Amino acid sequence: MSKVTVIGAGMVGATCANVLAAREVADEVVLIDIKEGLSEGKMLDMYQASATTDFKTKLTGCTNDYAQTANSDVVVVTSGIPRKPGMTREELIGTNANIVKSVVSQALAHSPNAIFVIVSNPMDTMAYLTLKSTGLPKNRVIGMGGALDSSRFRCYLAKATGANIHDVDGMVIGGHGDTTMIPLTSKATIKGVPVSQFLSQEELAKVAADTMVGGATLTGLLGTSAWYAPGAAAASVVEAILGDQKRIIPCGYYLEGEYGQEDIMIGVPVVIGREGIEKIIEIELTDEEKAAFEASAAAVRKVNQILYDTNAI
Ligand code: LAC
Repeated sequence: MSKVTVIGAGMVGATCANVLAAREVADEVVLIDIKEGLSEGKMLDMYQASATTDFKTKLTGCTNDYAQTANSDVVVVTSGIPRKPGMTREELIGTNANIVKSVVSQALAHSPNAIFVIVSNPMDTMAYLTLKSTGLPKNRVIGMGGALDSSRFRCYLAKATGANIHDVDGMVIGGHGDTTMIPLTSKATIKGVPVSQFLSQEELAKVAADTMVGGATLTGLLGTSAWYAPGAAAASVVEAILGDQKRIIPCGYYLEGEYGQEDIMIGVPVVIGREGIEKIIEIELTDEEKAAFEASAAAVRKVNQILYDTNAI
């Protein structure tokens, strides 16, 4: 029996739960929220959908009752406020740090062996907070930003080239911020062929720029944070864990010297399997990418410092 808890029944959490349920990734999905009735309503809605969509996942919705999350294999944390148009993810730290710390400790008390997938923003810092406040081993805390940013990178590469998105391969590393993420255009391919054979340097630069503001563009259009791609990206990380898939996904991982960085959670290519992050892959970066990674780490570290300044850890 596999069980996943998704904390936070907002758009991202509910979408993640729906993808997990519809793809039958786990035997049971629990959705929990502080808002009375919200999780129960969304899970009942999904249960009704299962009659026509024909999935068999057991669905549980509950308000603040962590006993119902007991013995989860994976816990996905989406709680917190989303950003409004014009806001950066980093501006959410004050509110979201307290929420994330509290929900993580409650979930861990009932699921001592769970692997945590962190979605709440600012994602790199919330993943760092989770690791530091729980003392969990680093393989069990995963920041999902790179999975999402890479799906956006592939989307913009597909749009720019006209290629099928499934033939497009590309990774985004670094922080999950509009100015901190690093789309690795030098390594992106279409069916193994470098994208530089399909797009000019200017076109590639535009793809990278569009990717970096991929979330902000949606916030502008929707009036709040996006949810389909974030929810699906989080679900893909859960699927890689429960299926022991050994997929290479760029995710937030605690670095201890790799990529020249220490004491930071930031997006790097990792292998995801049943133990969570099972391996880090150190790829050769160009000088420009190396410099961008250092700048990205410095920016993430600055936001992490707020956790110490406010005694959150
Ligand atoms: C985004 C939010 C979820 O990038 O961080 O859409």
